[in-house]
Amino acid sequence: MQRNDLCWCGSGKKYKKCHADFDERLDEMKFNVFLGQCRPPKKIINNAHDIECIRKAGVINDGALDLAGTLVKEGVDTATIDKAVHDYIVERGGYPSCLNYEGFPKSCCISINEVVCHGIPSPKTILKDGDILNIDITTTLDGYYADASRMFMVGNVSPEAEKLVRVTKECMERGIAAAKPWHFVGDISAACGDYAHLNGYSVVTDLGGHGVGKDFHMEPFVAHEGEANTGMLLVPGMVLTVEPMINVGKKQVTVDSSDNWTVRTKDKKLSAQWEKTILITETGTEVLSS
Ligand code: MF3
Ligand code: CO
Ligand code: CO
Repeated sequence: MQRNDLCWCGSGKKYKKCHADFDERLDEMKFNVFLGQCRPPKKIINNAHDIECIRKAGVINDGALDLAGTLVKEGVDTATIDKAVHDYIVERGGYPSCLNYEGFPKSCCISINEVVCHGIPSPKTILKDGDILNIDITTTLDGYYADASRMFMVGNVSPEAEKLVRVTKECMERGIAAAKPWHFVGDISAACGDYAHLNGYSVVTDLGGHGVGKDFHMEPFVAHEGEANTGMLLVPGMVLTVEPMINVGKKQVTVDSSDNWTVRTKDKKLSAQWEKTILITETGTEVLSS
């Protein structure tokens, strides 16, 4: 690429005024292959227009999560929440990305107690006093994706469950705080996982965070435990999710054979999850959906 060419990122600017310095810095980086360090592919680096589009999808996604939260009450069935989420997103010109994603039949995931993730909303699943649940929503708007989830509690929740919900949120926050441009994805993993382990919890590693934006699930895979200074380099313009799934008991999970979606803890003990979509900026991170 010549300095007067249009930049590869699609900004429409000249390369020398856009990613030339970026590429120079990247080329100077020494990647330690023994630590799995690697450079990010160009396709996961977003330009200002891409970021603006993901931000807009995130605004709708956050609104849908707010709405879902107002509906969480003892006696409510999870299909009712799903329908409200669907209509909220569609009314605003978006699409609930989960609907028909690899055959997923509903517009969001609602995962209660020992369900780790990918719980399918159903009129037969009624919220009851003491439940903890995760609602995970992804919105597509004009071809761009934003993905986030939150935990909710129904009525009187046990101190054990309440602590799990709080600590899992802190795991996510510590992971996000560890994400820095020109450092590595493993920094997120280590910060998340170390804090979970410190609290006596296990970390689900069969599933994890992911690049998001121009597609639902992209590189890199974001593990929620691991070693600092390992994996893919984080650079400005990358958008990814941090979404730790944290278990009171063991880390092993099973998938229901009845639906091939519902992920549960193998020991049937409680699990919690929080998720945000974050942008790596020149100086740190910006939350695009939460
Ligand atoms: N939103 C989930 C994630 O955080 C993915 C759900 S896929 C579905 O990556 F098909 F189960 F909806
Ligand atoms: Co999600
Ligand atoms: Co996600």
